[in-house]
Amino acid sequence: MATAVAWSSIRMTSQPSDARSGPLLDVEVVTLFPEAFDSFLRASLLGKAVEGGIVRVNRTSPRDFARGRHRQVDDSPYGGGPGMVLRPEPLAAAIEAAETARGKAFRILLAPSGRLFDQALARELAGRRRLMLICGRYEGVDERITELFADEVLSIGDYVLAGGETAAAVVIEAVARLVPGVLGCEASTVDESFQAGRLEYPQWTRPPTFRGLAVPETLLSGNHAQVARWRQLQSIERTRVRRPDLLSRHPLTSEESLLLKGGAAKKRKG
Ligand code: ADE
Repeated sequence: MATAVAWSSIRMTSQPSDARSGPLLDVEVVTLFPEAFDSFLRASLLGKAVEGGIVRVNRTSPRDFARGRHRQVDDSPYGGGPGMVLRPEPLAAAIEAAETARGKAFRILLAPSGRLFDQALARELAGRRRLMLICGRYEGVDERITELFADEVLSIGDYVLAGGETAAAVVIEAVARLVPGVLGCEASTVDESFQAGRLEYPQWTRPPTFRGLAVPETLLSGNHAQVARWRQLQSIERTRVRRPDLLSRHPLTSEESLLLKGGAAKKRKG
């Protein structure tokens, strides 16, 4: 067993071991498919953050803690029914080994039955230094794992994935990009979609005309106040059309109502 721990915890550690101050975000992933994260953790800005030691992601496989010749990690559900359920012992051992090696973490079980993950929760999680993402598979995990170990159960949406790995990747990316130093430009997390319950306004770049479609004139005006007002109107309109549920949950502020009235008056005047 000791060799198995060494393999999963050391070889799968995606950070140079000499980072002096330690990572700002330290993630433990408990997964039967540690290799599923390889390319994801190397790509783009997250890859740079991992390489630079700002984010660290350790992976531990419950398979390394399973007993018997076949190292079986699942079994049929009590009470009957289709599919297989992850047994509690290998999962518990993997969780405990990861915490013994690197310290206690805020433990999140990924499951379609969880609380819906959103931007507010991503912000909350970005404030925690150590997270553990426990990936389920098959028909689910033995409920005693949830009871004994999960601080939170999270779902990334109302659909069922084959396992928690893609969901864990979503959580890692959404949280990591909020950690200082991960994004090239910190301001881009301020204006973005879901901030204050609104979708982000549309964006354009060069060329000024593409396949007959021109960039809206306001954006070329150089009038920053006018651009800001126009973008805010676009953001409200886009939210109204695409995500009316967000508008019901976050009704128009008095500032937004005024802005809309101003916009409507301008349209009437032509
Ligand atoms: N595992 C399977 N489906 C899932 C979902 N929608 N969210 C999180 N984990 C999952």
